[in-house]
Amino acid sequence: MALPFMTADEAARLVPNGAIVGMGGFTPAGAPKDVPTAIAHMAEALHAEGKPYKIGMYTGASTGDSCDGALARAHAIDFRTPYQGNKDLRTELNAQGAHYFDMHLSELAQDLRYGFMPKPDFAIIEACEVTEDGEIVPTAGVGNMPTFCRLADKIIIELNEAMPATMRGMHDIYEPADPPVRREIPVYKVSDRIGTDCIKVEPSKIVAVVKTNRPNEVGKFSPLDETTAKIGENVAAFLEAEMKAGRIPASFLPIQSGVGNIANAVLGALGENQHIPPFEMYTEVIQDSVVGLMKEGRVKFASGCSLTVGADKLQDIIDHIDFFRDKIVLRPQEISNNPEVARRLGLITINTALEADIFGNINSTHVCGTKMMNGIGGSGDFTRNAYISIYTTPSTAKGGCISAFVPMVSHLDHSEHSVKIIITEHGIADLRGKSPIQRAHEIINNCVDPQYRPLLNEYLEMSKTAHTPHTLSCALAMHEEFLKSGDMRNTKWENYKR
Ligand code: COA
Repeated sequence: MALPFMTADEAARLVPNGAIVGMGGFTPAGAPKDVPTAIAHMAEALHAEGKPYKIGMYTGASTGDSCDGALARAHAIDFRTPYQGNKDLRTELNAQGAHYFDMHLSELAQDLRYGFMPKPDFAIIEACEVTEDGEIVPTAGVGNMPTFCRLADKIIIELNEAMPATMRGMHDIYEPADPPVRREIPVYKVSDRIGTDCIKVEPSKIVAVVKTNRPNEVGKFSPLDETTAKIGENVAAFLEAEMKAGRIPASFLPIQSGVGNIANAVLGALGENQHIPPFEMYTEVIQDSVVGLMKEGRVKFASGCSLTVGADKLQDIIDHIDFFRDKIVLRPQEISNNPEVARRLGLITINTALEADIFGNINSTHVCGTKMMNGIGGSGDFTRNAYISIYTTPSTAKGGCISAFVPMVSHLDHSEHSVKIIITEHGIADLRGKSPIQRAHEIINNCVDPQYRPLLNEYLEMSKTAHTPHTLSCALAMHEEFLKSGDMRNTKWENYKR
């Protein structure tokens, strides 16, 4: 069957109002670009005529601005899951313009197969190669593409000419069977390949192939500052000490590292610490710093779901594909983030908190408990199943007006039961085997910014009669104070205590 080549506008017109779409890729890496933008333009034109147009949207994680950004600005999204990171979509979600279901990234594919949410009508995906007999080779991100393609009735493919077909061989496509017949996921080493190098679909489901030529839309990281550099050094020092104490094998364990500026900086610091042997990564996003570390021989192998790297770094990989192909594997997120595999491989997981409380609970997602930042992403997949789970955060935000440490988190993503270590620029809190009060002292003394230590010690002193000594009328007082005066340092407990 000849492939149905057409323009992005023609492909967009195949997607009707109310359709449910699964977008391929993971983060901006490998996400479709031209067709979602064309859908957004079509939505704007229909809205101008007074006609309704919205789609339901599943993705791997965040996408690029030409997908999430364009569709959010066009008010064309009805619901969205499992993760996002776009400024305009964030505004839309926080204004209740679209429904957002924030979920663990390893779970979406199986939840769709289980029928917990409606299956996608369309898969809109990016590929570097598509054949007439239905073989599709993804580009820089896999995400949930295998499941979207299998469940959707229709598949629209952006064939991105900026992504060469030589990328074939980097991917390992595997979809587990569902209970009650699921077996173990047979990844016993970070580098194990268990699937195929492409997605195989029924060719008649491919309803459009759109030629594009677009780089990855991955943004640049902020330059390393003193705080992030110090956090990185503290993480490296902690892991070095754990190794010396015999709690991490001398051959080391695979690293999972989260998203964002801090995660990228931490990884760079780990790479520089010569006491830590060259290591492997079993992670979700492969960020910029990994590329250099691989060239220097500091990272031996990286298993991930996407190459979430800047355009220059991706070009570097493409130009040296023979060097990188046997050192990188890109898997569906169901496998890159698989809890069973994370527990088996013994991952050292390093993720970033938005805020933590003095008892070790983590908020990764909600500013002041109400405004969605990005989403939980894969942090829960990894944290709960880690060998050692680490959370990093700068001790303050917004020039010191916000303390990252508060009496009670305003939203809970990771509970005290799953969080083993917290690290800031000031130091390391080791929460293993400690009671709530012991954890509070460890966190206040080692991680909290000195200007907030007296305030949080006073909070602890207020209640002497409970296992977890909260004073409920004051538990969110620092947040209330920030909303009222713009500075948590103004908090006075007597103004809130009842
Ligand atoms: N209250 C309000 N705002 C806060 C805050 C707090 N407690 N802590 C940080 N912020 C703000 C910062 O000031 C910054 O704002 P700006 O963009 O206006 O400058 C913003 O949040 C991001 O902070 P930054 O320090 O640049 O962190 P980051 O880029 O490393 O991202 C997270 C941090 C938590 C937002 C990000 O890691 C995330 O979304 N995590 C959840 C998903 C996840 O862990 N995925 C990994 C799984 S593999």
